[in-house]
Amino acid sequence: MKNYLVKDPWHIIEDKFHPEYNRISESIFSIGNGHMGMRGNFEESYSGKTLQGTYMAGVYYPDKTIVGWWKNGYPEYFAKVLNSTNWIGLEIQIDDNLLDLSNTDIQEFKRDLDMKRGLLSRSFRTLLPDGTLVVVETCRFVSLARPELGALTYSITCPHKSVKLKVKSYLDGNVHNEDANYNEFFWEHLFQKMDDDFMAVSLTTRKTDFTLCVTAAHRVLIDDRKPNSTIPVSRADHSGKGYTSRTFELTLEAGKKFTLEKYASCMTTRDHPREELEALGKVNLSREAIPGFSVLKDEHSRKWEEIWAHSDLVIDGEIAAQQGIRFNIFQLNQTYTGKDARLNIGPKGFTGEKYGGSTYWDTEAYCLPFYLGTSDPAIARNLLKYRHNHLERAIENGEKLGFTKGAALYPMVTMNGEECHNEWEITFEEIHRNGAIAYAIYNYINCTGDNSYMAEYGLDVLIGISRFWVQRATFSKAREKYVILGVTGPNEYENNVNNNWYTNRIASWCLSYTRKACIDLEKKDPEIFNEISHRLKLTEKDLESFERIGSQMYYPADEKRGIFLQQDGYLDKEDITVEDLSDEERPIHQNWSWDRILRSPFIKQADTLQGLFIFEDEFDKETIKRNFDFYEPRTVHESSLSPCVHSILAASLGYTEKAYEMYLRTARLDLDDYNNDTEDGCHTTSMSGSWMAIVIGFGGLRYQNTRLKLSPTIPGAWSGYSFKLFHLGRTLTVKVDKTEVSIGNSGSEDISILLYNKEITIPAGGLVSAALKKV
Ligand code: BGC
Repeated sequence: MKNYLVKDPWHIIEDKFHPEYNRISESIFSIGNGHMGMRGNFEESYSGKTLQGTYMAGVYYPDKTIVGWWKNGYPEYFAKVLNSTNWIGLEIQIDDNLLDLSNTDIQEFKRDLDMKRGLLSRSFRTLLPDGTLVVVETCRFVSLARPELGALTYSITCPHKSVKLKVKSYLDGNVHNEDANYNEFFWEHLFQKMDDDFMAVSLTTRKTDFTLCVTAAHRVLIDDRKPNSTIPVSRADHSGKGYTSRTFELTLEAGKKFTLEKYASCMTTRDHPREELEALGKVNLSREAIPGFSVLKDEHSRKWEEIWAHSDLVIDGEIAAQQGIRFNIFQLNQTYTGKDARLNIGPKGFTGEKYGGSTYWDTEAYCLPFYLGTSDPAIARNLLKYRHNHLERAIENGEKLGFTKGAALYPMVTMNGEECHNEWEITFEEIHRNGAIAYAIYNYINCTGDNSYMAEYGLDVLIGISRFWVQRATFSKAREKYVILGVTGPNEYENNVNNNWYTNRIASWCLSYTRKACIDLEKKDPEIFNEISHRLKLTEKDLESFERIGSQMYYPADEKRGIFLQQDGYLDKEDITVEDLSDEERPIHQNWSWDRILRSPFIKQADTLQGLFIFEDEFDKETIKRNFDFYEPRTVHESSLSPCVHSILAASLGYTEKAYEMYLRTARLDLDDYNNDTEDGCHTTSMSGSWMAIVIGFGGLRYQNTRLKLSPTIPGAWSGYSFKLFHLGRTLTVKVDKTEVSIGNSGSEDISILLYNKEITIPAGGLVSAALKKV
């Protein structure tokens, strides 16, 4: 765990340079706008620890699978979002010194991510090897207002000495993915060009044929004004393969400030025809189009204001918690804006390369509730449509594994609908992902009341998924029940288990929900239902099998302890808890052999408890409590997806301090580098877990057939908190303090909700307050 960042409600600040943590900071200080993003790399040369990373959403490469022993059914490749043209690059020469913070004597340093306005700034004063003092100030952003545009400003002053300054600004397409399987170069160079106003580098991906054209333009200022004949700035250009640079050279007098503004237009064939990319880039950067850095900056920051107006979550009384949740909300909005149904949310967003930038069950199980609560429903709908668009591929994926008749197995990891993951215990066995995708449909319709989704898209997906469960479950004569054998549950520290309680439960739920959705639609709109059943060849036999298998599923349990068993035989494991582990052993995945982990009782992430969180309504509090008391002490939380679920359950059980401890762990996971892995990128998909821990956990938010329920509590460390919720076309503002809950309704119609299970009506434009209760 690290503790080097300044605690501030709206900023992430590193106020002293920590070279040993630079890769961690680069992840944390990442910026993005849904279309593209980049790590918090320095613009100037840096020879210390760094991972240079610039990523374009949806531009991927099918990197050939690497495995020790090939198994039938393995996917041929793992899709990876590509590290792409570095457009921020500057090489700065001051007299005979190359500016590189690894080799200078840093007097002051500040890196600042302004989350309110979406700006990354840096300032430092440093002594160069020859003793010259240099003062640098930088600011950059990728525009939310113009998603294909990035901009930076870089100022240099040498207060005591006149110097010969050379600033080389470059575009570099010679970039590699750190996680490439065969150290291959994923791009082919198309061209590099320069003219008086612009420079451009264009690359095209091998195999997938995406073309990226990055065009850049510059503006030079001396003391914030255009240079004139008294301070001549000369220019030299250079181009090599996949590389162009423009060098500005001048004598910079003592105390004068040199500023370079650099604008980059990053366009791809995902959005434009290839032959137009270059010309469009120039249009985007033309003098008429670029009103100047500060105008663009303000335009971008206003978009952030709009986002914060409906998604901010305020915590009073604890800056660390406030900073944590804002950082999470900020990163989620940087990663996914919901404007493009072809895109999804990679576990690292634009902050690193691990997990290939692909889509996991994380989206449905974790991210969806955040977007449902904080954004227009169209955004959540796009996330759902992404899976609908991939249904054919999910059916093909099922066929590759031997399933038939339209059985859909969605991939564990995907970019375009095809499976990319190639560890058998995950690819073939971690099938609970199908359940999360089905549950997301239920969640979406329940929260938004958008019933049209079921007939338009939802039912097709549910039928495909349910057909998979029908074929994947087998009837056990011994148990006289259906069983699901050879699976990996959410807890990846166990593989090839039989009857994972969570998987069996969610499979059974999918089957019942699909059947009910069919019956409901047939009643409501027989014509549409007939069209769907005809198209999908849905028969009475299908519906009968959904009912039979759904209602006769086997669930392992231990009667004596009154708990569900994570899987058959779980209790044969050694009866020890996390308290029996020494600090040196944790995280166990970095310190133990895999074999020892598999045999141990330690649970990577919420598994049985994941099911009790989702299906809470089906169980009484005592049952949930017994399971929580049993599984929590055995859980090491070595997946970022884990603490939030424990936090939510703890809050509903009245374990407020446990809930709070787990909240802090999820919200500050990256800021404090809790799992010692932030240098690979931030845990973007688990960030919505922090929002869930507050809104669903402390706020007690639940939906009951579009009816909203709240049962707020407050952790001891906070004096209050408040959040906004999108609900059925209205925005509700929920405020909680130590004594009172108030709920405001900004809509034009009254709304009835359940507060602590009692119906209240909040008038349009009005507010209702009530005393805070102990849950
Ligand atoms: C977790 C998975 C998750 C993946 C990506 C793994 O460590 O065990 O549940 O989908 O990370 O976040």
